[in-house]
Amino acid sequence: MAEIGDDIERAAEILRKGGVVAIPTETVYGLAANGLNTNAVAKIYDIKQRPSFNPLILHLSGIEQIDRYASDISVEANLLASNFWPGPLTLILPKQPLIPDLTTAGQPSVALRVPAHPITRKLLQLLDFPLAAPSANPSGYISPTTARHVQENLGDKISYILDGGPCKVGIESTIVSVVNKKAKILRCGSITREEIQNFVDIDDSYSIASFNNIIAPGMLTSHYAPNKTLVFGEITPNSGVSNSPNIALLNYQKYKTFVPEATQFVLSESGNIEEAAKNLFEMLRKLDSMEVDKIFAEPVPSFGIGLAINDRLSRASSNVNNENKFGS
Ligand code: TXA
Ligand code: MG
Repeated sequence: MAEIGDDIERAAEILRKGGVVAIPTETVYGLAANGLNTNAVAKIYDIKQRPSFNPLILHLSGIEQIDRYASDISVEANLLASNFWPGPLTLILPKQPLIPDLTTAGQPSVALRVPAHPITRKLLQLLDFPLAAPSANPSGYISPTTARHVQENLGDKISYILDGGPCKVGIESTIVSVVNKKAKILRCGSITREEIQNFVDIDDSYSIASFNNIIAPGMLTSHYAPNKTLVFGEITPNSGVSNSPNIALLNYQKYKTFVPEATQFVLSESGNIEEAAKNLFEMLRKLDSMEVDKIFAEPVPSFGIGLAINDRLSRASSNVNNENKFGS
């Protein structure tokens, strides 16, 4: 069983030897390995059971490393990097040849980000290579936001989980690609459309209102889903809820009176959308472990990070026909 601890030097040693370690970031926990070492990267795909056509994000210690791993960086991409790094923004850029094909799944582009978590920043500073790290969940399942989540899912496949406490943001990074001076949002996250628009125009032919459209290799028919059936939509006594005895609810602000409180969670009683994002995956995991047949989740307000919450719930659901469901 993987050990959970805060020994950064121990994590660095495992990584230098080509091993895999789970690391905390401000968004979700990552499953990290030396992103320049094909053998090390292969272990990530194997542990996650991730399809080899789904590329990984390279995590860098600082913005000054961007030229080492990416080329032809546009003024706009640079502007986004300098304003949002360290932080939950991933940029898709033309890759430098030193990055192995397996890391980018054969793509000519690479996904780069500088994470903001202090422990992982320290770890990256100890290393002379970047860390390839997808979310530390089995491919298709809910992303982990605590060390314990990683241990539950992948504890028998890795030896060490670097503990950085519960993730502050709780939802994966916003992924942006800049094409012809415009930003295409490939995955919504805590850095909002409005925040990006303060620096670079957005190409909307690409993202559909609230639900992003990923034309990325990670597109699959599987999704960020619990094992239980999840139904996404307004929860009313008429929506099939009251006549299904064995159900659990994920509410935004209020418990529903027509269902027992013991089988309900509330994302944020005060209606704080950031708090809702932080609680989302933890509550989905708890709901998934309850003895119920179905989970009903209602949409949260569609602003800011709320768009990303609704996006994840929609992808996790069985009732929303979203052609672009993907899992990673
Ligand atoms: O917040 C995050 O981004 C977390 C933490 C650990 O950094 N990481 C994460 O990684 O969510 P992952 O692998 O679960 O999701 C990365 C997504 C995948 O859907 C993948 O297809 C996409 O990024 N991606 C990676 N490289 C790409 C590329 N070159 N072009 C387009 N999409 C890419
Ligand atoms: Mg993922």
